[in-house]
Amino acid sequence: MPLGALAHAVKAPDAIDSEAAQAARVLREQLHYHAHCYYTLDAPEVPDAHYDDLFQQLQALEAAHPELVRADSPTQRVGGAPLAQFAPVRHAVPMLSIRTETDTQASGAQNFDTRVRKELGLTPTDNPVAYAAELKFDGLAINLRYEHGTLVQAATRGDGETGEDVTQNCRTIGQIPLRLTGDAPAILEVRGEVYMRRDDFETLNQRQRDKGEKTYINPRNTAAGAVRQLDPAVTAQRPLSFFAYGVGEVAPAAQGEAHFGTHLALLQALASWGFPVAAQTQLALGAAELIAFHQRIGALRDQLPFDIDGVVYKVNDLALQQRLGFVTREPRWAVAHKYPAQEQFTTVVAIDVQVGRTGKLTPVAKLTPVFVGGVTVTNATLHNEDEARRKDVRVGDTVIVRRAGDVIPEVVAVLLEKRLQDAPLFTMPRQCPVCGSAAVREAEEADYRCTGGLFCGAQRKEAILHFAQRRAVEVEGLGDKLVEQLVDGGAVKTLPDLYRLGLTALASLDRMADKSAQNLLAALEQSKQTTLPRFLFGLGIRHVGEATAKALARHFGSLDAIMAASEEHLLQVADVGPIVATSIRTFFDQPHNREVVEQLRACGLVWPEGEPSPQALLPLTGKTFVLTGTLPTLSREDAKALIEAAGGKVAGSVSKKTSYLVAGEEAGSKLDKARELGVAVLDEAGLKEIIDGDS
Ligand code: IVH
Repeated sequence: MPLGALAHAVKAPDAIDSEAAQAARVLREQLHYHAHCYYTLDAPEVPDAHYDDLFQQLQALEAAHPELVRADSPTQRVGGAPLAQFAPVRHAVPMLSIRTETDTQASGAQNFDTRVRKELGLTPTDNPVAYAAELKFDGLAINLRYEHGTLVQAATRGDGETGEDVTQNCRTIGQIPLRLTGDAPAILEVRGEVYMRRDDFETLNQRQRDKGEKTYINPRNTAAGAVRQLDPAVTAQRPLSFFAYGVGEVAPAAQGEAHFGTHLALLQALASWGFPVAAQTQLALGAAELIAFHQRIGALRDQLPFDIDGVVYKVNDLALQQRLGFVTREPRWAVAHKYPAQEQFTTVVAIDVQVGRTGKLTPVAKLTPVFVGGVTVTNATLHNEDEARRKDVRVGDTVIVRRAGDVIPEVVAVLLEKRLQDAPLFTMPRQCPVCGSAAVREAEEADYRCTGGLFCGAQRKEAILHFAQRRAVEVEGLGDKLVEQLVDGGAVKTLPDLYRLGLTALASLDRMADKSAQNLLAALEQSKQTTLPRFLFGLGIRHVGEATAKALARHFGSLDAIMAASEEHLLQVADVGPIVATSIRTFFDQPHNREVVEQLRACGLVWPEGEPSPQALLPLTGKTFVLTGTLPTLSREDAKALIEAAGGKVAGSVSKKTSYLVAGEEAGSKLDKARELGVAVLDEAGLKEIIDGDS
């Protein structure tokens, strides 16, 4: 065979392959680029759908040509089989730790600078030392190894010499590039911290609470736990982030650390290759600027989207770092300068229940005051009954509280070994601790709520604003600020108080001119002429919105009929289901709520009332029944309940007033009497027919 023909025969399939390979490469590059924009730069250039589309194209291509699948393909971020255990990884360059300056005051920075200057033999007249000032991230240290621009291995720090291979898990982290951009060295190990943002942590915990599952303790443990999952699919579901702060092995040496000159230049190079580097990192000259950095970041700490436990100072000049060298496992050129801890031990002195503006009851642990996350904490939320039970916090317990960012302090764990004997289990009260009304927890809801909306002191402001809004009775000009003043000043406790306000009381309020006081009084007067649906909606009964209020008014015609309606009656209204019916019934069962309604009427609130709609009349309304003998399927009790539910009454003996006698087997004298008086006689089937409205 001529050589040319052979070459041709071999080339043909190659050409096809290279077309697919070419397409896969283009897709991979586009996906890497967009992932970098999205995850690391936080500046996506295309809609998510476009990314998904490219991703699916690549997936399809790889499915058709499995030989094209590469470790650094974006499709390989998720997936991989669970491991039995992590393989050990010996670090090419040991992962050191940093000396920690526990003195959280300015002197911590000063001491470090003094030591560095001494080691370098500098005199007081020499220039200040240049430092790179960074954040100390609170997560898990990771070494990422890239060979020719491709991520080949991710390892934990372990003991500094040997870590664990967590490559599969780290591939699932969007901020970790699978491929480097630009002219990265052939061998590049990048070191940094895998962490979890606080908002991601909160969302994760809220999801756990919603599912009735245990919440995680803090972002650091959660991030570290996620990286060390044997099943990468689990890691993929945890929202993890990454910051780069250094390097390990770099080769060839000419492109190594020394090549960059300074630590800040090195970080800049890392950013250019695709790694997230914290924006707060900066140059600081001498102790004074280190102190300023420590203070500035300390003030900013709460607003950062992630936890830090301090800042890190590093001598910026890499040659000086070399000169300073190491003591045992710690470099002399770096120090971590801490902030006050965000978690502390304390004890629970009581568990109170607070009532929110909308009536939600929240159990709150009262704590022995403790300094945590920069403030003194005396309260920590337990969220709701289930959460309090899951954590099983009891009075007298020693607990860990956490306060980070502007998130409300939380009890994250109980130290069971320190529990006192006979510590009582916490239970939610069935009465509102503010007003004494019934507290109820609806099916499928996590929270208990106070049902005394109109009367409850905790809900005053909300109740008034709701009542006064345009869609309710509409009191023009009665807004947030005014309600705040009226309630805080004690002038208004419940709704009727609004209609008792006088000109002098109003005019004495802050920024209230005579004219505006008069306007408000006029608006209150005007609001008295209302409609039943507006009034009903204005009462703020849970689940009774405008549409339900209208339906109730149309069905029952009058407020009294609604207030008297049983749950069964209420259920006959279109759109009223069991939860709404119970809520309406419970609301009007609270004596305080009824009182407020009566007082409002006494204040002159009026609305046109109508007749009940025909559907509101129950089929047996006004009818009296007498039962006798044994019915084929219904017991006496059942038959009675059935009649009453349909609006009828059941009497013991037959008289002229009896509408029907319901007679079964072995009916006795009552049947004779009915015949004598000409009272209609029904059997069981006949009873059911008239209830169903068939006759
Ligand atoms: S540099 C030779 N920089 O702190 C210095 N570490 O004890 C090596 N950490 O577990 C570390 N933020 O994970 C460095 N900006 C930062 C850091 C940082 C957090 C962690 C690191 C390690 C520990 C060092």
